[in-house]
Amino acid sequence: MKEIEIIEAFKDKFETSPELNIKAPGRINLIGEHTDYNMGFVLPAAVNKAIYFSLSSRSDNQVNLYAVDLNEYHSFRINTLEKSDKSWANFLIGVMNELVSGGAHITHGFNLAFGGDVPLGAGMSSSAAVESGMGYAMNELFDLNLDRLALAKVAQMAEHNFAGVRCGIMDMYASLFGKENKLIKLDCRALTHEYLDFEFENVAIVLFNTGVKHNLADTEYNKRREECEAGVAVLQSHYSGIESLRDVSLAQLETHKNEISGTVYKRCHFVISETDRMHRASEALKNADLAAFGEIMYETHDGLQNEYEVSCKELDFLVDITRENKAISGSRMMGGGFGGCTINLINKEAVAESIESISQAYFSEFGRLPESYEVEITDGCSEMAILEKDKL
Ligand code: GLA
Repeated sequence: MKEIEIIEAFKDKFETSPELNIKAPGRINLIGEHTDYNMGFVLPAAVNKAIYFSLSSRSDNQVNLYAVDLNEYHSFRINTLEKSDKSWANFLIGVMNELVSGGAHITHGFNLAFGGDVPLGAGMSSSAAVESGMGYAMNELFDLNLDRLALAKVAQMAEHNFAGVRCGIMDMYASLFGKENKLIKLDCRALTHEYLDFEFENVAIVLFNTGVKHNLADTEYNKRREECEAGVAVLQSHYSGIESLRDVSLAQLETHKNEISGTVYKRCHFVISETDRMHRASEALKNADLAAFGEIMYETHDGLQNEYEVSCKELDFLVDITRENKAISGSRMMGGGFGGCTINLINKEAVAESIESISQAYFSEFGRLPESYEVEITDGCSEMAILEKDKL
């Protein structure tokens, strides 16, 4: 088990036992893509792929960070929270920096080892899991008394300020508020949520990883956000009460189509339609209407491909080959885009054969097999009970 590997690595590296072990899950998102930073709704869930942290306090001011999966190490003093040339370390230092700027007292140094099985750059929010888990760990180690929402905001700001991605709050929120077998219907403006049951009996959630690593920081994600803001600015000059694309109707967008560029129009059209899809999909979920839900997932993919333009040929291929597969009700690319995974709703009895046929088709087209993961919906960040020593 991965968490045991991290604990063992911690012991080897620091020659002591951890006093705190934290699990921070990655996430899936059923529907509602690129709507979080437009203050809309999303439907994510935490899953059974996670980043694990083991920590112990030190009596001095030294912070020692050990990235087990990379076998890399970084140290500094608690009063010098500076960006590192190691990008993985910046996710952790960024969280400490946000906490300290918010008034938290990091009173002494610590040793930390971390690693996990959330695939990197796969749209499952490995970086948000690292940031959320780090915030959760600091909260425990230094008795900061921050609630989960405050930790989600800290993690989001770390991503903005230290990783340079102006992400929404969905990923961190899901990692922190996840609940076993529940989807999180999150209102990204109110920052409140309702838990929905995954009503589709006999359906497995399966991800196919294209193996194409996205790099959201690579400007495209931030560019999409700016394009949405450009659309909002034009509409604000005509209507009062518009704060974000959530407040804009398709009719308003059409009326002012000629005042915005074709690109900005497409981006805004996608986001406004996606908010509508999100609501239709949650109704379909509540009614256990799998066919309707799946259809909406395909609509979302088409919008991400053609209007938001964040898909890639590998993702499109993986979605397209499911369209004729009777065992698959819905499929779409998931997360920020430009690579990563598709999310698929597959009849449980047909999971093995669907994985086999899709993998073979992908191999024939691209010369490599996609990874696939059947995921379970789990609780969010938590402290793990210290495992009995004799089991380690
Ligand atoms: C990334 C971001 C999220 C969200 C998704 C797209 O995962 O981190 O905030 O915007 O892309 O829905």
